[in-house]
Amino acid sequence: MNDYKMRFAAQIVELLQDSLAAAGATLTVNEAVEMIEYPPNEEMGDLSFPCFRLSKALRKGPPQIAAMLQASFVVPAWAAKVVAVSGYLNVFIDKQAFVSASLQTILQDGERFGATNDGAGKTVVIDYSSPNIAKPFHVGHLRSTAIGNALYQMLSFIGYKCVGVNHLGDWGTQFGKLIVAYKMWGDEDAVNEGGVKELVRLYVKFHEEAETNPSLEDVARAWFVNLEEADSEAVYLWQWFRDISLKEFQRVYDLMKVSFDSYAGESFYNDKMGIVINELIAKQLLKEDDGAQLVDLEEYSMPPCLILKKDGSSLYATRDIAAALYRKKKYDSSKIIYVTGGTQSLHFQQWFKVVELMGYDWATSELFHVPFGQVSLEGAKIATRKGNVVLLEDIFAQAIEKVTEKINETNPQLENKEEVARQVGVGAIVFSDLSTNRIKDVIFSWDEVLNFDGETGPYVQYTYARASSVLRKAVESGKACDDLLAVDAGQLLDETTVALFKTLQQFPEKILQACDKLEPSLVTRYLVDVAQSFNRFYRDCPILKVEDEALRNARLAVVQCARTVLANGLRLIGIESPERM
Ligand code: ARG
Repeated sequence: MNDYKMRFAAQIVELLQDSLAAAGATLTVNEAVEMIEYPPNEEMGDLSFPCFRLSKALRKGPPQIAAMLQASFVVPAWAAKVVAVSGYLNVFIDKQAFVSASLQTILQDGERFGATNDGAGKTVVIDYSSPNIAKPFHVGHLRSTAIGNALYQMLSFIGYKCVGVNHLGDWGTQFGKLIVAYKMWGDEDAVNEGGVKELVRLYVKFHEEAETNPSLEDVARAWFVNLEEADSEAVYLWQWFRDISLKEFQRVYDLMKVSFDSYAGESFYNDKMGIVINELIAKQLLKEDDGAQLVDLEEYSMPPCLILKKDGSSLYATRDIAAALYRKKKYDSSKIIYVTGGTQSLHFQQWFKVVELMGYDWATSELFHVPFGQVSLEGAKIATRKGNVVLLEDIFAQAIEKVTEKINETNPQLENKEEVARQVGVGAIVFSDLSTNRIKDVIFSWDEVLNFDGETGPYVQYTYARASSVLRKAVESGKACDDLLAVDAGQLLDETTVALFKTLQQFPEKILQACDKLEPSLVTRYLVDVAQSFNRFYRDCPILKVEDEALRNARLAVVQCARTVLANGLRLIGIESPERM
């Protein structure tokens, strides 16, 4: 439909050019493409151009403009007819030409169906996942990881060079606290054994003790200053805590099959903040306040951005500013995207503003915060603060276990059961996480997430496996078609099949929209449409049972097209597609 939209738009623009020029107005093909709508039902055609917005410039009523367009429109080979109705110019696509063209494109492009060069030559840095050392990898980080990874895959698909950065939270006052807690109540073996859970226990203990003994806070601050000054004991302990945490995080990334191009976290900028601070001083942006240094943002209706604490130690924002300047230079990026919870919005607005005030005007056009809503587990908030920790790893483990039970019930003979259970269990959670607009809050419900019939990951994966199975059975029964490109599209003009192609053809457009809005849920929801549309086809149109070879082959080609779009879509949101499940 994409192509047709473009051609339809081009023809309209050509027809309107003279009258628009006479009126001193313009309309580009891209603008016209944006205006074109998909009519809500078949009788109104396949594509619809609304004439309302042109009314003013052309000094004519929309119905008149539509009628004028219809009169001069030369119906191209790909269309059956063009009709003007109440201010719209509707085009009816020639079904056979349409099905044939989409079939060819999808089969030929395969894995690359939907890929473009829109981002060619441009680099996007995506800062995502970014969990905190010695803190649990929780469900909030899952959202960042899932959204960030999807954006990485999607933007790469439309031609951008992406750099995935895991901006680990591995620096800050909390390490002073942890060092103190470890020295007072910790034990080497317990930490080695318990890992992050033990580190969290120590951290929580610190907070409990500090309530009655506030001087502990000062000791902790002093230890963080030691760390910033590279005191060997502080660095040794910090490195150890970091290694332990990374090893645990890596287990989650392995489950999700997510990787990063850089693990330069907050500590990486320890020696890069001095320059920033000097620059802030030179540009007269720093202001002293009770011993601390900050950038006043009152003029911009924001609280001040704290740069240095009273004790001279740096802050989260200080490191973010240093990181942005570093990344811009190192990667020559055209965009830096930060995927974190919406609760950090103010933080990003503040330091984006500081970078702008430093004179880097790219701050306003190239730094993007991509916020997302909160996650709760069947009602209960996932709070980590007081030790009531829900580890992502445990959630994945549960999902995998539930899927394993299901497989044992329905398909006990399945080969590599473990691998499939991981792909489906993890896929279910990621899919559910990416199903709603990212800014909305999410509630995990096991029943919903793992439902094989609902609008879920397992449902889409199952549909993919079903398509794969048809093609496999075709081979096994000697009914495979070796030249799918040569099938007769004339066999595929029934309503269900045409509807399926209309859905499949929207894939490239959906990807572009999802990239434009940095919104993977557009792809996720689209995949449910594809799966539903394919399952209708599967129900209404027998495939291997059909005797007529031409029809059977044509339908096998349809299966292959749907299978391709499902696989591409799942891949772009970071979900695997098992061949059997
Ligand atoms: N570590 C932070 C957290 O867990 C997220 C870091 C996001 N990236 C950044 N450059 N600030 O909330």
